[in-house]
Amino acid sequence: MVRFLRHVIIDTDPGVDDALALILALKSPEIKVEAVTTVVGNVSQDKAHRNALKILDFLNACEIPVARGAHKPLIREASHAEEIHGESGLGEAMLPEPRIRSSEASAVNLILEKAYELGRGPTLVALGPLTNVASAILAEPRLVDMVAGLVFMGGAYNLTPYGYGNVTPVAEFNIWHDPEAAKIVFESGIPLKAVGLDITANPSNSLTLDRYQEIDRLGTRRSRLVADLCRGLIKRFGIVQLHDPIAVAVASNPDLVETGRFFVEVETAGLLTRGQTVLDRRPRQPIERRPNLEICLSLDSERFMKLFMERVVYE
Ligand code: RIB
Ligand code: CA
Repeated sequence: MVRFLRHVIIDTDPGVDDALALILALKSPEIKVEAVTTVVGNVSQDKAHRNALKILDFLNACEIPVARGAHKPLIREASHAEEIHGESGLGEAMLPEPRIRSSEASAVNLILEKAYELGRGPTLVALGPLTNVASAILAEPRLVDMVAGLVFMGGAYNLTPYGYGNVTPVAEFNIWHDPEAAKIVFESGIPLKAVGLDITANPSNSLTLDRYQEIDRLGTRRSRLVADLCRGLIKRFGIVQLHDPIAVAVASNPDLVETGRFFVEVETAGLLTRGQTVLDRRPRQPIERRPNLEICLSLDSERFMKLFMERVVYE
């Protein structure tokens, strides 16, 4: 069967779930990872970049260029989440210093280079704040027509019982961390597919204690890494939310989700509402408020978890 191979560029802030997502991406035959760019978010740019190099090195994916991106949001100061991801950003995982070297290009330049190079249009997959993506669009506005689109983990859309915020009552971390970047991306015209907390905060789509214990018992090189990544979150929360792996799975297997199209704006001025993703669901909207986001409404949880375990843990 001829598979449609999606060329993807992954922008990421590893981060425990980002690390799991990178493994999933590299073990998904439906996609070819053309480049990885790192963004400040869960941890500093330096830590995120080193973690991305370590994960790719662990998987011997030495041919994939990894470029450094933003050290801080477009306007605001960075605010990390090491209380969630651990001081290193990779939980309890201890990986050797990477053998592979960083790309000479910046994240923005590598994104643009790959977009120019891959005529068929790569898909951007953003797993962290949208700082690098916004910067690339500002540098080259034609990027919105040079890529197939952007699949991103971000937002809380109140479209399911889990669609409330995580970093605040109304905002999801990736959008909250750089709301100005998200606003630029949402208004750019780039085709957008949002994987929000509505899906990723659903316990049916998370790694449960039972699954963790199954992984921890395996004792293989890969399962030990996954267990080390997840152990701290399991100890603390009894569950690991798989935000970024779900976004990668949506990019590789779009039929895993059902979606709806909505007009969405990003709150950038509010104190309590910073980073809130505001849907306009009123009927008969004026043309300038036509839908700009395709939002995931449901996920085939069983198929996703099978795919996650087979590709991330067992292979
Ligand atoms: O809100 C969850 C998102 O923020 C995930 O991408 C996680 O890695 C953090 O970046
Ligand atoms: Ca992330």
